[in-house]
Amino acid sequence: MIALIAVQSSARMAGQKDFAMARLGSLTVRRLDARIKQQLRLRAAANGRSMEDEVRAILRGAAGAGAESRPEMIMPAEFAGAERREQKVDVREDRRPADPAAPQKWRVLLIIGGGIAAYKSLDLIRRLQDRGARVRCILTAAAQHFVTPLAAGALAGERAFTDLFDAQSEFDVGHIRLARDTDLVVVAPATADLLAKMAGGHADDLAGAVLLATDRPILLAPAMNPRMWAAKATQRNLAQLVADGVRVVGPNSGEMAERGEAGLGRMAEPLEIAAAAAALLPKQGPLAGARVLVTSGPTHEPIDPVRFIANRSSGKQGHAIAAAAAAAGADVVLVSGPVDVPDPPGVTVVKVETANEMLAAAEQALPAEVAVFAAAVADWRVEQVSRSKIKKQEGRPRALALVENPDILATIAHLKSNRPRLVIGFAAETDDVVANAKAKRIKKGCDWILANDVSPETGIMGGDSNTIHLITATSVESWPPQSKDAVAGELVERIAAALRGEEA
Ligand SMILES: Cc1cc2nc3c(=O)[nH]c(=O)nc-3n(C[C@H](O)[C@H](O)[C@H](O)COP(=O)(O)O)c2cc1C
Repeated sequence: MIALIAVQSSARMAGQKDFAMARLGSLTVRRLDARIKQQLRLRAAANGRSMEDEVRAILRGAAGAGAESRPEMIMPAEFAGAERREQKVDVREDRRPADPAAPQKWRVLLIIGGGIAAYKSLDLIRRLQDRGARVRCILTAAAQHFVTPLAAGALAGERAFTDLFDAQSEFDVGHIRLARDTDLVVVAPATADLLAKMAGGHADDLAGAVLLATDRPILLAPAMNPRMWAAKATQRNLAQLVADGVRVVGPNSGEMAERGEAGLGRMAEPLEIAAAAAALLPKQGPLAGARVLVTSGPTHEPIDPVRFIANRSSGKQGHAIAAAAAAAGADVVLVSGPVDVPDPPGVTVVKVETANEMLAAAEQALPAEVAVFAAAVADWRVEQVSRSKIKKQEGRPRALALVENPDILATIAHLKSNRPRLVIGFAAETDDVVANAKAKRIKKGCDWILANDVSPETGIMGGDSNTIHLITATSVESWPPQSKDAVAGELVERIAAALRGEEA
């Protein structure tokens, strides 16, 4: 918060007029270093504002124009707690800090039932946190035979709840507050017993009482022996719960924990459950409600069944942009060529190989407010793809006839209908970077171009950092060298500002 106080004092010096505040708000955000920006991003997310609006709120407060003159006091307790937790060295040594682009903006109450799959629920806590959730846990009595409240509490970062008649927790939080102080209740593993209890409305333990008292969406991840799952009673209970509006993810088919048992009843994987949970959570952030299309990675243009034309694009920049847009609340479709980087959380990923497939997937993803074309699409493909492996010919290499691939950026930018409001391209150049990128922006008909120098000595292609020139119709702005994640964060802020009608 020290950094924010520094912002406050600059505000005091800057005068008190709202107009000046608004200008200073956006200028200040651009100049802040990455650490301060991260604090600001957390604070803005906590208050449901854009970063610029958050700075304005601080500035107004500093100038005495509103009730927000004590920014440190506005940060909700859970965020302050999150800061404190990160300083502790504890059993969560291998816990990745929450994704910086995904501040804790949702509350999830995770009820862990008494099944073997309870061990996976510990991983689920992390997966939910990766998606920006603050997780609270309840363990049933049976669950505590499989995992401990200590482990669940340590991973969640706050004590896990177990007893309905625990005077301390009733005084402290209480089962009704547990039921209400959340955006979503996830039951994983949802045992046959918990399904029966819920369908019958039983409230004889903490999990049952909370499930009955909550008015928030409930997501069940059933896990049980295939015969228990197929049992008429279980299916009857499930049908009742679905009719009551409860959502279900899984179960999957596969090996059971019990030796020799297989079939339908395996709990859905933590990533699947987290994705299903995210789909039920309200979107928040400066891009909430906006649909964003991002392309990423290279394309592979086949020559024959074993060979293809490709390039060195890693997909790191495009994937980082998709992740940052999703963390800002956007509904993101990522059309990705073949890459080794993992799918970003909270994003719909469409995997393609060729330029033609990428164009079709991009068109399919429309309408969208914003389209960012970060993929390095091959300019050419082989005219005739051989159905069988081309044999090495003695003496002379075979000539490949090439044809031009569709220009995805230009095609989308020139759409007469369905054109995204903001079409953003990338220019990977090795010479005259800015001049070439300016010409490319006009030729392609896009709104912005992010130009970067991909000469081998820059290490940008495949590397973790990037040096960007943002070229718009009216300006060229050179950003300092920074990580691809930071570039993505900066770009998403600019996109959000542009959608609000502010200049780039
Ligand atoms: C080793 C073992 C594994 C179990 N695994 C499951 C399971 O995967 N799913 C299930 O519905 N019940 C399972 N049970 C039975 C539940 O633990 C039991 O029905 C318990 O009452 C559930 O309590 P709860 O629903 O309050 O958590 C298992 C029991 C044992 C002893």
